[in-house]
Amino acid sequence: MENKNTFAAKLAEVTPGTTKKICMPGRAPILLANVEGTIYAVDDTCTHEDSSLALGCLRGDKVKCTLHGSWFSVVNGEPSEDPADEALQTYVVTIQDDEIWLTLD
Ligand code: FES
Repeated sequence: MENKNTFAAKLAEVTPGTTKKICMPGRAPILLANVEGTIYAVDDTCTHEDSSLALGCLRGDKVKCTLHGSWFSVVNGEPSEDPADEALQTYVVTIQDDEIWLTLD
């Protein structure tokens, strides 16, 4: 399938140190995270069970799942604490003017 750029949010909606859950029709929610001014995008749903990572806190470049405590890198999606052992999908982020765009398949 062809990749396409999709508008996700205004840059001002994701301030440094915060996350924002994005819901788009026909696909699983995506989590945007602002790490010291750089925006990252990963799947919002924890790979262990179906918990939204938007409920957890962002510390540096890691977000915590509130259900069982796994941490995930928002840079590469990798978990760093049990029980999750599968990485989150990551997405290419492009900033255009004051907008965040994602490359989705
Ligand atoms: S649902 Fe996230 S660690 Fe269990």
